[in-house]
Formats: sequence, structure tokens, C-alpha cells
Amino acid sequence: LHGNIAIDGPAGAGKSTAARLLAQKLGYLYIDSGAMYRALTWKALHQGIDLADERQLVALAEATTIRLENTAAGTVKVYCDNEEITAAIRQETVSHHVSTVARVPGVRRRLVELQRQMAASNRVVMDGRDIGTNVLPEAPYKFFLTASLEERARRRYQELIASGRPVDLETIKEEIRRRDAQDSQREVDPLQPAPDAVIIDTTNMKVEEVVAKLLELIQA
Ligand code: C5P
Repeated sequence: LHGNIAIDGPAGAGKSTAARLLAQKLGYLYIDSGAMYRALTWKALHQGIDLADERQLVALAEATTIRLENTAAGTVKVYCDNEEITAAIRQETVSHHVSTVARVPGVRRRLVELQRQMAASNRVVMDGRDIGTNVLPEAPYKFFLTASLEERARRRYQELIASGRPVDLETIKEEIRRRDAQDSQREVDPLQPAPDAVIIDTTNMKVEEVVAKLLELIQA
């Protein structure tokens, strides 16, 4: 059992929880690439940068240090220029604007470079939108997780409620629909399965079942 594991798919398909648990089981490093796009978006919003100004966003990406720390408890702490912003990157404003930042080619170039560096010195489970197609095209294990829009919205809703945030299910569904459309239609590295990815529909699966399935496919 050797080699990096790429897990892609749309928002709320269960990638991050499954990827995190899988990494724990295998003793690999878990890299949440979406957290990196979120961290940069958080900083851009924080600094009041015009998100339509691609040059400024690229300059920001190049001047920003983003660090992901896997904790002993199995969670991931996110640092931007040494400030911990783990909770802040899950704010609705960040979710709303992140795909606008993520479609800028120069931003992607920079974050992809960082992602490849992280994978160069560790065995990793990396989740995102373009890991199997672009970031780690040589990864021996590639998965693409999907689920119905209804189910993905329901999962995101429960996560937000559990973290004490009042939300409305229909609003979340619209937000996910909008973000998926933006991620799928962008010109660089659009969300799509790699030709050699195994596609798994998780609509009717519990996260433990997803992890068991991934392990089974990896060990096969
Ligand atoms: O995974 P998560 O939903 O936190 O990702 C947030 C956003 O970051 C996505 O909607 C997408 O716009 C962007 N992203 C990306 N490429 C990745 C990971 C995330 O464009 N590899």
C-alpha cells in the first residue's frame, strides 16, 4: 500500500470527513486543499481587496503563507501568516466568495505549487476539486465522491447547526448549487473526475461506509 490518494468532488459530498479519517487510518498526512483557497479568500476579504482585481489576488497569493496542521486529535488547524483562522474560513461570507478567488489562474498556480510541495515530502490524502486531474495526476489512487444536491445540502446544514450557526436549508442548497456551477464552469482546472478516478455516489452511505469502501478499493 503505497502512494498518494486524491479525493475530488463537489461541495458536501463527504470528501473532507472521509479523507481525514482515511488519512488517520493509514498514518498519512491529510491535506484539505479547499481550506487553502478559503484561507486566501478570508485574507482578501479581511484586507478589503477587490475580488474582481485578479492582479491583486495573485499578488496576495504570492505574499501569503498558508499552513495546515494535522493535530493529534485528527483535526486540521489552518494558519494564515501564522494567525490561526480555522473557524473563520467556514464563515458564510468566505463560502460565498471562495470560488471567485479560486477561478483566478495565478492564484491556482501558487496554491497548486504549495500543495505539490506538501505532497512531495509526505504520503498524503488530499481532497479538493482538481487533485486527481491537476495537482497530483500521478497519484495511484483517485476517487471522485458525489451525492445528490439534496443530500449534500442536508449534510452541510447539519454541520452548521452542530457548530451553533443558525441557517436555512433552502439557502444552503442554493449556495451549494451556485458554487458547484462556478467550480464546474471555470476555465482552469474545472471540477470534473479524472479519467482514471473511481466514482462513488455517497448519497446513501454513512461516512464510515465511505471510508471502508475507499480502504477496500485501495487494498484491492
Ligand atoms: O472543499 P471546500 O468546499 O472547502 O472548497 C472551497 C472552494 O475552494 C471550492 O468551492 C472551490 O471553489 C475551491 N477549491 C478549488 N480547488 C480545490 C479545492 C477547493 O478550486 N482543489
